[in-house]
Amino acid sequence: MSKRWYSEHRRDPWRRDAKSSGYRARSAFKLLQIQKRFELMRAGDTVIDVGCHPGGWSQVAVEVTGYEGRVIGVDLEPCAPIDGVELVVGDITGKQTQDLIMEMLEGSPIHSIVSDISPSLTGQYERDQAISIDLVCAVMDFSFTILNPGGSFVTKIFQGRGIEGVIEAAKGRFSKVQRYSPEASRNSSSETFLVCINKLPRARGFGPKETVAEFVQRTMVESGILTEDEDEIEAAGKVGFTVHRAARDDE
Ligand SMILES: C[S@@+](CC[C@H](N)C(=O)[O-])C[C@H]1O[C@@H](n2cnc3c(N)ncnc32)[C@H](O)[C@@H]1O
Repeated sequence: MSKRWYSEHRRDPWRRDAKSSGYRARSAFKLLQIQKRFELMRAGDTVIDVGCHPGGWSQVAVEVTGYEGRVIGVDLEPCAPIDGVELVVGDITGKQTQDLIMEMLEGSPIHSIVSDISPSLTGQYERDQAISIDLVCAVMDFSFTILNPGGSFVTKIFQGRGIEGVIEAAKGRFSKVQRYSPEASRNSSSETFLVCINKLPRARGFGPKETVAEFVQRTMVESGILTEDEDEIEAAGKVGFTVHRAARDDE
């Protein structure tokens, strides 16, 4: 651990506050600030926390929803128990985990889905950002299917290619969609949150059975950001949405 890392983290007021307030992660303040501004969750709500480890957002969700509410947290990593939170270890993009969550819910309505999902970062921004967009699309597909009409959704998203398509996809599903950077995440210029309020009963602007990833891909092809040619995609040897015309132009 470098001296610089240590002094930056020691100075970070959110990290200090997280320790003194009992939250497991400084990221808890991001959800607190989002909640204060948009009131996505209410007492008695059922909430799913996607990418919940180590548990900061779940702690906030359970504080808001209270005894009458229900919070289910899911992550690849196991979390230490949190009072009032049902924890699932699994990959949210996988059918097995999705089926397990559906079984736990037994058809009861889901009022809010909050997602702080993030891939393990390689440090190569373009690659990390592309993987993050893929993950967000998968979370949106699952969430949009199971979320109650009128429900809310928030997800972390990394700034970069594909984000406009993701916002468009969200606008086809919710009456209000807004990008928001809570104060607690303002030292990270790369991340922002997409806040989606009031899920519509029917999707707008999607093709029949079109997934969010397909929608985003289509909008990127239409705007000339992404190539459609499969050979070029393979030749580029890159992941998901990083295969784009701009990269080829740079070569
Ligand atoms: C920034 S952390 C979440 C912090 C959490 N919100 C908190 O307040 O404690 C992002 C999490 O996303 C999880 N994650 C990444 N890909 C995932 C996947 N496919 N399924 C489930 N969780 C995933 C990671 O394991 C990581 O714990």
